[in-house]
Amino acid sequence: MHKLRLGVNIDHVATLRNARGQSYPDPIAAALMAQRAGADGITAHLREDRRHIRDDDIFALKQAIEVPLNFEMAATDEMVSIAEQLQPHAACIVPERREEVTTEGGLSVAAQKDRLLPLITRLKDAGCRVSLFIDADDAEIAASAEVGADIVELHTGPYCHAASSDHQSAECNKLQQGALIAERHGLEVHAGHGLTFDNVRPVAAIPQMKELNIGHFLIGTSVFIGLSSAIEKMRQLMDEARTQGGS
Ligand code: PXP
Repeated sequence: MHKLRLGVNIDHVATLRNARGQSYPDPIAAALMAQRAGADGITAHLREDRRHIRDDDIFALKQAIEVPLNFEMAATDEMVSIAEQLQPHAACIVPERREEVTTEGGLSVAAQKDRLLPLITRLKDAGCRVSLFIDADDAEIAASAEVGADIVELHTGPYCHAASSDHQSAECNKLQQGALIAERHGLEVHAGHGLTFDNVRPVAAIPQMKELNIGHFLIGTSVFIGLSSAIEKMRQLMDEARTQGGS
């Protein structure tokens, strides 16, 4: 099976920095460390309220890193204009509501195809690969292909936060089916949200999976074991799941 790419999301290094209004810890230094530790890409979300990553961070990040930048953004004119200037490797469109703590659900693609289409066209014209962060739902996957996305990132939150192991198996099944359907539509399959050392293996073992984007857990765990060790361990668990299966 092909090697799975690990995208490291460094947003919460900026959360920590902003908590005290200081210049440390520096998210760019964290991205460079992640790159050295084996991250295949860096992900950052410039939220509309700039609660963690700020405009100068995202441009500095693009300059500093050698691995691809995955720019997470809301479907707004402002963010598309920033992406046009930034020219990241990929633009991942996520739903965004200011009052939420983190991205809470997948993007509704089927319900807003007409609104998304011109934004996606602009992103593609700017040279970005376009990824849509969606729930593993047949209609959303089909709509993502219709609006011209290159990638779907399947939302692993319902799987990661399932209250029982039966529920978690059912959610894992949805991700497996979703990955299969997305591949049939010609879409590259990524996944992310809420992944940890304990729950990553079944998702990493899905054959169609090409990339996992992981942030909060890696940054949190780095308090105890350091960022490089956290990334190396995640990398190892992902690689083992590809060769030995997900259980
Ligand atoms: N993928 C997307 C689209 C996200 O919005 C997030 C959260 O910012 C992640 C992946 C990473 O999730 P987590 O921080 O829970 O690992």
